Formats: sequence, structure tokens, C-alpha cells
Amino acid sequence: MSKRNKKLYRGKNFPFGLEPDDCVRRLSGLLNRGTVLDIGCGYGRNAHFLAGGGQFNVTALDIDQERIDVLNRWADDSLIPNIITQCIDVKHFPPTREYDVCVIAYMLHCLSLPEAIAVLTNTRRYIRPGGYVCIAAFMNEGYIFDESNQSNYFPGNKSLEGFYDGWIVEYKEGLVQCFPVEPGVVQENMAAFVLAQRPI
Ligand SMILES: C[S@@+](CC[C@H](N)C(=O)[O-])C[C@H]1O[C@@H](n2cnc3c(N)ncnc32)[C@H](O)[C@@H]1O
Repeated sequence: MSKRNKKLYRGKNFPFGLEPDDCVRRLSGLLNRGTVLDIGCGYGRNAHFLAGGGQFNVTALDIDQERIDVLNRWADDSLIPNIITQCIDVKHFPPTREYDVCVIAYMLHCLSLPEAIAVLTNTRRYIRPGGYVCIAAFMNEGYIFDESNQSNYFPGNKSLEGFYDGWIVEYKEGLVQCFPVEPGVVQENMAAFVLAQRPI
């Protein structure tokens, strides 16, 4: 990211920061082009990163128009044409085409268990053979879980790993710092990370 962009976008509009999630960075080392669906893109740090190199065409969707507006401005200012944004509830977005990649970063906890399972089940259908699903999800232990509606989807140990049975799966868990960060306050939650490749 250029110094100019860092200066423009630092601050309250980007509580999740400007840098992509680690699993998205890792994905970009495994696949060098393709189509991406970013579900719950937020302010767009992952969409911006993947589209920014020019090799990925990204469809980024979020239920919150204000976040979509910020991503559109960021993409325009960075002269990135290959992001299409849509303000929509993922529950009303049954994909009608295939994608090479689906990114679902820290949004499954916004859904109920049946809704999250429907979203995850759909990915198994619309990812092309050889394509990837890249997930980061808050688990059922830590600050976000304690502060949230606990009937929403917070996976327990290894439960996301089993979801992509038959695919090639990299799975790990770890503590993440929650956002937005208040100075001097440590707010952490366990997270699960999945990078699953559909067999060719
Ligand atoms: C915690 S943020 C994560 C944003 C982004 N993926 C990232 O990692 O920076 C969760 C996002 O999911 C979006 N979201 C929540 N429920 C949604 C739904 N039903 N459909 C689409 N987006 C949703 C929120 O508006 C929010 O932008």
C-alpha cells in the first residue's frame, strides 16, 4: 500500500485496518488469478488486496451500505476497476455462477446456526474444482463471544474443519485481537482459520 493511501485511510473508517487477513494473503500465494466472492466484505481490506494486483476480479457484498460506500471510494481512489460491490443480505444472495475463491472473514458470527450452515453449504456448490474457500471465524471463546448473541454461529474446536470433508483443508486456531481496539484494553477471541481447496 502506498504512503498516500495509508494516510488517507488510517483511522475510524477502517476499524479492521487496511491489511488483508493472513489467510487471504496466503491464498494469494496459491492462486494467481480468478474470480472472488467476498461475503461480508466490510470496508473491503480483503477485496481491495486481491483486486489490487489486477489478477482477481472481486465481487464484494455486505449488508451495510455505509461500508460498501467506503470500499467503493477506496477502490476509485486507488484506480482499482475490478471490484463489483453489492449491498445485500447474504441470505438473499444465492450465487448463480461459479467462483474460483470465496472469502468469508469474521462474518459468520453475524448469522444464526442454520443461516451460517446454508452459507457454508452453498460454497461447496459454487466453488470451481481447484478453487478455494478462505474462512476466518470467531469461535465460542473470548471477548466477541461474551459480548454477542451467543445463539449465533460461533464454531467450537475443529467444527469448521469437518465442514469441507473430501477437500484439501488447512486448518488452524489461534487468539486474535478484536476490533475496534480501545487503547490499553486487551480484547481477544479465539478464531478458526480454514483454507479449503475443492479437489480437481
Ligand atoms: C466483523 S465485519 C468483517 C468485515 C471484513 N470481512 C473484514 O474481515 O474486514 C462483519 C461484516 O459482515 C457484514 N454482515 C453481517 N451480516 C451480514 C449479512 N447477513 N449479509 C451480508 N453481510 C453481513 C457486516 O455488515 C460487516 O461488514
